[in-house]
Amino acid sequence: MCGIVGYIGNKNACDVILDGLNKLEYRGYDSSGIALNMNGKIEVHKYKGRIKNLIEKLAPLGCNSQLGIGHTRWATHGAPSDKNAHPHSNESGSIALVHNGIIENYVQLREWLIKEYNVNFKSETDTEVIVHLIDHFYEGDLLDAVYKSIAKMKGAYAIGVICSHEPDKIVAVRKDSPLIVGLGEDENIIASDIPALLKYTRKVYLINNDEVVLLTKEGVKIFNENREQVQRDIFHVTWDAEAAEKEGYEHFMLKEINEQPKGIDVTLNRRLDENGRISLDGIQITKEDLEKINKVYIVACGTAYHAGLVGKFAIEKFAQIPVDVDIASEFRYREPFIDENTLFIAISQSGETLDTLAALREAKRRGARVLTIVNVVGSSVARESDDVFYTWAGPEIAVASTKAYTTQLISMYLIALHMAVTKNVIKQDYYDLLISELKALPAKVEKILENTDTIQEIAKLNFEKQHAFFIGRGIDVAVALEASLKLKEISYINSFAIAAGELKHGTIALIEEGTFLTAIATQDHLFEKMLSNIQEVKARGAFVLGVAKEGNKQIEQQANKVIYIPDCIDEVTPILSVVPMQLLAYYMSVLRGCDVDKPKNLAKSVTVE
Ligand code: AGP
Repeated sequence: MCGIVGYIGNKNACDVILDGLNKLEYRGYDSSGIALNMNGKIEVHKYKGRIKNLIEKLAPLGCNSQLGIGHTRWATHGAPSDKNAHPHSNESGSIALVHNGIIENYVQLREWLIKEYNVNFKSETDTEVIVHLIDHFYEGDLLDAVYKSIAKMKGAYAIGVICSHEPDKIVAVRKDSPLIVGLGEDENIIASDIPALLKYTRKVYLINNDEVVLLTKEGVKIFNENREQVQRDIFHVTWDAEAAEKEGYEHFMLKEINEQPKGIDVTLNRRLDENGRISLDGIQITKEDLEKINKVYIVACGTAYHAGLVGKFAIEKFAQIPVDVDIASEFRYREPFIDENTLFIAISQSGETLDTLAALREAKRRGARVLTIVNVVGSSVARESDDVFYTWAGPEIAVASTKAYTTQLISMYLIALHMAVTKNVIKQDYYDLLISELKALPAKVEKILENTDTIQEIAKLNFEKQHAFFIGRGIDVAVALEASLKLKEISYINSFAIAAGELKHGTIALIEEGTFLTAIATQDHLFEKMLSNIQEVKARGAFVLGVAKEGNKQIEQQANKVIYIPDCIDEVTPILSVVPMQLLAYYMSVLRGCDVDKPKNLAKSVTVE
């Protein structure tokens, strides 16, 4: 949720840190700050609001330093304000610290520090407790003081800390919040995520949980929780810097919607040999493993959860294994039936969503086999799984997930088909048909992207509506849910998705003259039923947008407008029908003047409960 950057080296730390914070803006934040070691003292500048606010206030100061830390804050404890912004300092100002995560026992620690040592707290944050703990334990060795402090802390944290008495180092710690280290020539950088480093280095250490890092200009040492130094391979980042830029699109979201043909193609075809056989490099599930499995859970949040709903359809239809899908924040607290015969599938774009990570850990603790579908290499979810299936969608910067979602769907189809073949429960000609249909998808998505006029026209007709409804049947319910989430989270229109058959059980009471309703009707065997639902809502004055396969002329007689997707078999329509829904949400958001890439109150990665 928050973003951390720290620098030690020969460049001006102020420039490097501000540049890095800008690259982390997408994580969502409400304030930012920086601490710099200047002439033997630590200067802290921190403000509520956008980073450009911080830059404007720093500009006249001409800050020049070789050591510093910076932070973008997404408030969890204490409202957004200058005093609650990070970095936080001890009372003498000799130590400054930035933190991403939540200290679960901060109230007890705060009371102890006030009672025993009369500490004067300046903020309402949990974070400030950490810097006072370090101050309390500090006896001339920052690394030692940090170790003693984290021994008293409970919760999730990635922290970076500097001290004016030791201006040649940064100490950083990782526990359940992301932290990486960029390795340079006579310079080293800590950050929450790769985009903050790309301008300076492609060589990265991925820091594991409970590890403490000591950075100097000359080098980086990593220690485990027992203070033993550990070795770490260098991870070479292959992303191009511009991959995280917009490449000429007005918004990251539009760029990422248009990257979907490539993402689908890469995610799919890197796992198919020339005969269409699937090879899943990160997954070692054997026939014996599958025969042991008597329960499959798919667990995720938000858009990833909607991908899980399609995954359930695919695994049950192709591999004939029953599947339960659950949102992570519920799963982890409902005492699920889990044992060594359970397969737990987590889906996450960021790989850092705390609820998903916690659910995964709970499943592992109870003996389940854990397979994850994740977009960020080396993320927490990836590193704590038995099997990992990477969606090669590339960095997804916009808060609203699009290309990660469609590559998650591809991943689910491949895993389901791999299971079906391993169990020998799918006929070869049906398998071949499915593979050929999946291989045809990138070109069909491209075709949708090349014809957005109708979508833009529908957006213009409806962008001022305050409510929107999405309905579908069968697999189209999952697409309706995803379409509704896309619209609400970037346009702030109150949108709502429901199984079409449920309309008469209450929701139809809300339909009135001019109600904007989208009916996703791609399933041939359910089309007649969908037509009846469209007639029901039309009779009550709704403006109905139909989504159907090319060639379906019947729907034009009932719907006000129709968006067609290229023809394909029913089983793979979700990867196509979601694309016009993403674009519809995008254009309506732009027409409403919303912040498309960074919607209010939202963050790209929800690393708190
Ligand atoms: C998607 O558009 C939303 N931004 C949000 O629901 C997101 O899907 C959810 O927070 C899960 O994130 P993850 O995939 O990184 O775990």
